[in-house]
Amino acid sequence: MADTAVMDKLVSLCKRRGFIFQSSEIYGGLGSVWDYGPLGVELKRNVKERWWRAMVHDRDDIEGLDAAILMHPRVWEASGHVSGFTDPLVDCRQCKNRFRADDPRLKGTPGTADAQCPVCGSRGTLTEPRLFNLMFKTFMGPVEEQAAIVYLRPETAQGIYVNYLNVLQGSRQKVPFGIAQVGKAFRNEITPGNFIFRTREFEQMEMQFFVKPGTDAEWFERWRELRMSWHHALGLAPAKLRWHEHGPTELAHYARAAYDIEYEFPFGWNEIEGIHNRGDFDLGRHQQHSGKKLEYFDQGAGERYLPFIVETSAGADRVTLTVLVDAYREEQVEGETRVVLGFHPAVAPIKAAILPLVKKDGMPELAMAAYDDMRKRFPCFYDDSGAIGRRYRRMDEAGTPFCVTVDGESLVERTVTVRHRDSMQQDRVSLDRLAGFLEDALRG
Ligand code: GAP
Repeated sequence: MADTAVMDKLVSLCKRRGFIFQSSEIYGGLGSVWDYGPLGVELKRNVKERWWRAMVHDRDDIEGLDAAILMHPRVWEASGHVSGFTDPLVDCRQCKNRFRADDPRLKGTPGTADAQCPVCGSRGTLTEPRLFNLMFKTFMGPVEEQAAIVYLRPETAQGIYVNYLNVLQGSRQKVPFGIAQVGKAFRNEITPGNFIFRTREFEQMEMQFFVKPGTDAEWFERWRELRMSWHHALGLAPAKLRWHEHGPTELAHYARAAYDIEYEFPFGWNEIEGIHNRGDFDLGRHQQHSGKKLEYFDQGAGERYLPFIVETSAGADRVTLTVLVDAYREEQVEGETRVVLGFHPAVAPIKAAILPLVKKDGMPELAMAAYDDMRKRFPCFYDDSGAIGRRYRRMDEAGTPFCVTVDGESLVERTVTVRHRDSMQQDRVSLDRLAGFLEDALRG
């Protein structure tokens, strides 16, 4: 199957089954902005909750934070985003299209007579590259002309840096410690695309770890290991994950060292998370621009220093896309194509479907009672419409790990069948043991 075909099928499945819709679709859609439907919102929440658990709840040395999207405009001067968060762009004076200067479709050198526009084909109409800032601007205050310009944050990290002393003072943490945050970020990307891979509005799951200078290289390695293990534990195929080390020309303005975790998507290997050694760049710049001392005082050692920062930065939407791509498969079963989303049970939006075999003879009542019991424990779905085979297929497409069927025998023996999504094998389980059976199976 051609690679683009896989993505087309996944996009269509996501719309059909209520995972992801194009934003404002009835108005023709808004470029590279997407909405999450009933199954999609559960899937993405599960990804974010797993991250939060690994970062905040399972550790004593990381605190959570939820900083505002709007920040003082000077934050972005200090961070280097006003001057440095830019892409060089080329315009076609003929057809008015705009391209990144490194767009492989551009022929010749933009700004010269031989350069050719990849859309309208005109020669000599491409401008020289000009820098374009990727931050979205908006106005704060009731009268637009007098209002201050503020930016929609292009990364969540800055909300952590400007609050680091507040968190330190309000918690009982000592360096080394971290602050974790999940939240929206916005970038006016020039070449967004590949579904929810690169969008203009997205969510980041970022953690900034504050360490004593000199220990940063060691922490950087430790966080690299931990983050790769987290992706493995999410159920992603290890063979489709790899490291990419940033060379000197790739490093962001703030980074001393950086590695990306890449996944092999149908459209090629691409970054899903970055791990960066940011040194004292951020706290140093905020100290300088705000005039406020941001040093840490180590009482035990009697030392004062500006901590170095090791950052782990993953996109919640990008990881959700990775989970979807990794889970998607087609199989031939009895001459028919079975489409399955083989999610890890921890991220599956629905954990079990409860299905009466037929809509009569007391089966719906028994199934409904089992559903009422199960839904108190984990997200479940009740479905009594259509042939049982079709109901199984619908649940396979939704990535539901288990289907529980109530049949004639259930009324006599008080047992049900539990069908496993991946193997399609069925176990006979007594109704009394059903909850425990499913809970054990979901824990894996
Ligand atoms: N604070 C560091 C930072 O923002 P980044 O490499 O620019 O680093 C980190 O972004 C992660 O955020 C990426 O690995 C990706 O998962 C996600 N991300 C960045 N831009 C995105 C976009 N336009 N759409 C979706 N996710 C994006």
